[in-house]
Amino acid sequence: MISQTLQDAINEQIAFEISSALIYKAMQAYFEAEDLPGFANWMDVQYQEELFHANKFFDYLCETGGRAAMLAFEGARNDYASPLEAFRTALGHEQIVTSRIGKLMDLAREENDHAAQIMLQWFITEQVEEEASAGLIIRKLERVEGDGRGLLMLDQELAQRIFTPPAGTA
Ligand code: FEO
Repeated sequence: MISQTLQDAINEQIAFEISSALIYKAMQAYFEAEDLPGFANWMDVQYQEELFHANKFFDYLCETGGRAAMLAFEGARNDYASPLEAFRTALGHEQIVTSRIGKLMDLAREENDHAAQIMLQWFITEQVEEEASAGLIIRKLERVEGDGRGLLMLDQELAQRIFTPPAGTA
């Protein structure tokens, strides 16, 4: 049975993951308005990933005899000065997520909750990928800054992204 402390912390993380989804959905709207459908697609996939993360925590609480709850979550910012600013914001947000996941792992360790540690291990690996993918796009955007053709090529690349739930979790 999960402890009340860890349950409360995971419920806060569920709210944070849902607020992440809203942040990326708002970024999708920004890119749609900028006529960059590939960037918009990338953000839509990110939105779906964040909902998947929220569901993964939600299901874990239900499976371990905990009580999942929907807490209040933050609103999302709807405008950005440039694609680069949007992706820098996304990376900053992911760095906060990484730090929160690390604190959840510290708590699970303090409580000797081995099942929670195994569940959180997936998120630790996932955050390495989340930060790496946003960071790579930032570096590409920095290279093409001011070059409209480069931006459109990057838009075509990001249009290829699809949401694929990890094996065994669909
Ligand atoms: Fe759910 Fe992007 O971390």
